Amino acid sequence: MPTYAVTGATGRLGRLVIEQLLASGVPATEIAAIVRSPEKAADLAARGVEIREATYDDPSMLPGAVAGVRRLLLISGDTPGQRLAQHTAVIDAATLAGVERLIYTSILKADTTTNPLAPEHRATEEVLAASGLTHTVLRNSWYIENYTDQLPQYLRTGTILGATGGSRISAATRADYAEAAVSALTRPADGDAVYELGGTAFTFDELAEAVTEVTGSTVVHRDLSTAELASTLENVGLDAGTAGFVAALDHSIALGELATDSDDLSRLLGRPSTPLRDAIRAVRA
Ligand SMILES: NC(=O)c1ccc[n+]([C@@H]2O[C@H](COP(=O)([O-])OP(=O)(O)OC[C@H]3O[C@@H](n4cnc5c(N)ncnc54)[C@H](OP(=O)(O)O)[C@@H]3O)[C@@H](O)[C@H]2O)c1
Repeated sequence: MPTYAVTGATGRLGRLVIEQLLASGVPATEIAAIVRSPEKAADLAARGVEIREATYDDPSMLPGAVAGVRRLLLISGDTPGQRLAQHTAVIDAATLAGVERLIYTSILKADTTTNPLAPEHRATEEVLAASGLTHTVLRNSWYIENYTDQLPQYLRTGTILGATGGSRISAATRADYAEAAVSALTRPADGDAVYELGGTAFTFDELAEAVTEVTGSTVVHRDLSTAELASTLENVGLDAGTAGFVAALDHSIALGELATDSDDLSRLLGRPSTPLRDAIRAVRA
């Protein structure tokens, strides 16, 4: 039976976690990838990782997916509105199966933030606490990739639009969060833990400076009000609900809710987190 199992293993974070587990020396036979589409995991199967098919939406598939697993990484689902039921189903299956430790990817400051994505994370943390499972909560701030994925648009328009009011954001790369998850999975058990994970904080002005410096193309940051950002996004084709949602995410940044001075990420990594400029350079390469 594999020691470790990772849900969402064909997703971007899950794939990085499996790669880094393997790179850290964990044998492939000790790893189970829990996936809803096994055909997407053929490359992992070819390397000896055990593929277990399950969707969060069908609780009957979950006991088999977690059977015999000692340490389970539950990567949060990607469908807001359904996630609490999905995560609860996994936690219930893990509890019944006697999983030794469950690690869950939450959001920074889950217990206090007004971020519209947070209520399902907060509720999942509560289910986890009530389950009696030994657990580790990885409260991840934003991925740097949320910004570097927009590099072509920044360069085309010369502008980074936002409504963050000059506040900082402790974004870190997916690869760093994956490595931190591997550290949490593989370290000796020490009871329940909550980590507030974020990289070196930057403002959108500093993001624009970094993009300009790395690419050699001048990009400036334009700070709007939340309402202005929502209407600008609607003008470029987003529906009102999505535009308002995106603007609300920036409002949460403006409130400082995605910034942290915690050094939990670098402590789990055993090194400083990847600098913003290196992440931009990696995309350019
Ligand atoms: N901190 C941030 O900035 C940030 C940004 C985006 C997302 N997130 C959160 O972090 C999670 C991981 O990020 P990511 O970049 O790896 O996202 P991703 O690439 O979209 O991966 C999501 C994974 O969840 C799996 N999944 C979705 N619904 C499922 C279901 N019903 N049953 C089983 N598996 C299901 C997907 O399966 P398939 O491979 O079959 O599609 C995929 O493997 C996201 O799901 C989201 O909760 C955080």
